[in-house]
Amino acid sequence: MRILLVGKGGQVGRELQAPLAALGDLVALDRTTADLERPDDLAAVVRRERPDVIVNAAAYTAVDKAESEPDRARLVNATAVAALARAAADRGATLVHYSTDYVFDGTKAGRYVETDDPCPLSVYGRTKLEGEAAAAASGCRHWIFRTTWVYAPHGQNFVRTMLRLGRERDELRVVDDQFGVPTSARLIAAITADCIGRLAAGAPPPAGIYHLAPHGETTWCRFARTILAAARERRAFLRCQPENVVGIATADYPLPARRPANSRLDTTKLETALNIRLPEWQDDVLPVVAALAAESSS
Ligand SMILES: NC(=O)c1ccc[n+]([C@@H]2O[C@H](COP(=O)([O-])OP(=O)(O)OC[C@H]3O[C@@H](n4cnc5c(N)ncnc54)[C@H](OP(=O)(O)O)[C@@H]3O)[C@@H](O)[C@H]2O)c1
Repeated sequence: MRILLVGKGGQVGRELQAPLAALGDLVALDRTTADLERPDDLAAVVRRERPDVIVNAAAYTAVDKAESEPDRARLVNATAVAALARAAADRGATLVHYSTDYVFDGTKAGRYVETDDPCPLSVYGRTKLEGEAAAAASGCRHWIFRTTWVYAPHGQNFVRTMLRLGRERDELRVVDDQFGVPTSARLIAAITADCIGRLAAGAPPPAGIYHLAPHGETTWCRFARTILAAARERRAFLRCQPENVVGIATADYPLPARRPANSRLDTTKLETALNIRLPEWQDDVLPVVAALAAESSS
């Protein structure tokens, strides 16, 4: 099986490389060889690499910057996805693509299921939703994993930011009225590889959109306390203790892009399709905090 990975250097892209390489011939590209801001070039990349599966881990993920760069965000998150999906359809290849809880407005009382009406609040959310629609319209076999609050031991993410700020400051003020589920890039990569492995074995899960996140829920503030508590247990140097993380309201931390207050995703569809049980989010995050804390232990 030939697998083409686009966006190999991102949080999810990096975690995908080892499990995908174990499944077949992996060609992993970054923006120097597959630039999603040049969608017209992507069909030639796909023709050259002749993949059976295209995994698109690239995206315009600068949620706030997207408010002032909507055309660039749309080019990467929607136009390029349409081009990859068309190229996949032309070859009879499968497309794996990732989307976001930000396609929802967060006003639902419970967890979002795949069939809930999207209503994005931001340019990023709107362009990601357009990307989903483009993949579906292309007619290629596709899996779209909508995920949320992604972190990894590398890249730009909340876990690394909290550990850095926890070393620098005595107190942290963190939003406590947005609810969601932190998701490791490693979990996303493992589920992706599982699905592609089943495809290779002739028993792929049905095409379509799946919500992908661990079980449980938290707020950014409680997530920050969990990260610092786990780091403290591992003797990482910290100026800010978990008790000194102060909850604030979203309104007290204004940002250019609006975020949904409820990002909780129901993952029953994915767990049923794969006959698996996803982990609790705390179990998912601990290995990452442990690895990062070891780098800064006193
Ligand atoms: N991060 C989250 O909290 C979150 C939440 C929900 C859903 N998601 C979705 O999950 C997927 C993976 O996200 P992530 O967290 O791994 O993102 P990430 O760490 O920000 O990585 C994004 C990757 O996309 C690449 N990229 C950006 N513009 C590109 C272009 N024009 N051409 C080629 N590559 C380009 C980046 O390359 P450079 O390094 O060269 O810029 C980077 O490697 C995305 O679809 C994202 O929308 C993420």
